[in-house]
Amino acid sequence: MLRLVVGVLGLACLIAPAAVAQQQPDTVLLERGQRLYKENCALCHRDLGAGDPPTFPALRGSDQLRDPMRVVRTIRQGRDRMPPFPGLTAEELSALVNYVRNVWADGSSNVTTEEVAAVLGGLEETLPMGSVWDGVFTEAQANRGQAAYEGACGTCHGHRLNGAPDDPDMRSTPPLARARFLRVWQGRSLATLFEFTRATMPEDNPDSMTEQEYVDVIAYMLLLGGMPAGDAELQPDAQSLARVVIRAGR
Ligand code: HEC
Ligand code: HEC
Repeated sequence: MLRLVVGVLGLACLIAPAAVAQQQPDTVLLERGQRLYKENCALCHRDLGAGDPPTFPALRGSDQLRDPMRVVRTIRQGRDRMPPFPGLTAEELSALVNYVRNVWADGSSNVTTEEVAAVLGGLEETLPMGSVWDGVFTEAQANRGQAAYEGACGTCHGHRLNGAPDDPDMRSTPPLARARFLRVWQGRSLATLFEFTRATMPEDNPDSMTEQEYVDVIAYMLLLGGMPAGDAELQPDAQSLARVVIRAGR
C-alpha cells in the first residue's frame, strides 16, 4: 500500500512540473513586485494604492494603469512631480508593473522582462548611479540650506534635526538626519526625498519654498548626517537627483 502511494506521488511529481511552472513565476513575480512597491512607491501612493489625493494620486482603479508601457516609462523617467527610478532593472520594472496592474487595474497583467527591456532600449542611455557619500553638494550650499531650514523646518523638526522641537509642548516629528533618518530612507533616491518633501513640507504650508531652497535644505540634512561635501552643488533636477541613492554607509 505504502509503495503504491509513493508510486502515485512519484507519478504526480512527474506530471506536476508543467502546471507548477505555469503558476509559480506569477506568484513569485507578484511577491517581488509587492516588495519593490513597498520599498519604492508606498511612501506616496500608500500601501493600498489609495495615494493621498490631490498631492499623490491613487493608483487603485486609475486609468493611468491601462497601458503597461506607459507605466514602465512613468516609473523609469518620472512624470511631472512623480520621481524617476533610473536604477530599476527591466526585471524589477516588469515585476512592479505586473503587480500594480494585477492588484489595482483588475486585469491580469503579464508583461515580460523582454518586453520591458525593448521599451527601455528606446529610452535615453542611462548615467551611472551614485550615493549620498559621493560629495554631491557643497558646503556653501549646505550653509544656505541651514538658513532656510531654521526658518521653515526647525520649529517642528528641531534645531539639531533630531525631531525634538525646541518648544516642549509641541509634538515630536521624524528626525531628518543621522541613523534614525537613514534607517527609514535607506535605498530611496534624493529625487524621492525632494519630491516628497516639497509636496508635503513644511507641514503647515507645503510647496512654499523654491526648488533651490528645497535642495539646499537637503544638502544641509546630508551635511549634518555626516556625508562629505564636494565641488559641485546638488541641482534641483529630478533626473540627476534620482541617481543619488540614500545609504547609511559608504
Ligand atoms: C515622491 C512621491 C512618489 C513616489 C515615491 C512615487 N510616485 Fe508615482 N506619482 C507621484 C505623483 C506626484 C504623481 C502625479 C504625476 C503627475 O502629475 O503627472 C504620480 C503618478 C504616478 C502614476 C500615473 C502617471 C501617469 O500619468 O501615467 C503612476 C502609474 C505611478 N505614479 C506609479 C508609481 C510607482 C509604480 C512608483 C514606485 C516605483 C511610484 N509611482 C513612486 C508621486 C510619487
Ligand atoms: C508644522 C510642523 C512641521 C514643519 C514646519 C515641517 N515639518 Fe516635516 N514633518 C512634520 C510632521 C508632523 C511629519 C510626520 C508626518 C507624518 O508622519 O505623517 C513630518 C515629516 C517630514 C519628513 C518625512 C520624514 C520621515 O522619515 O517620515 C520629511 C523629510 C520632512 N518632514 C522634512 C521637512 C522639511 C525639509 C521641512 C522644512 C522645509 C519641514 N519638514 C517642515 C512636521 C513639520
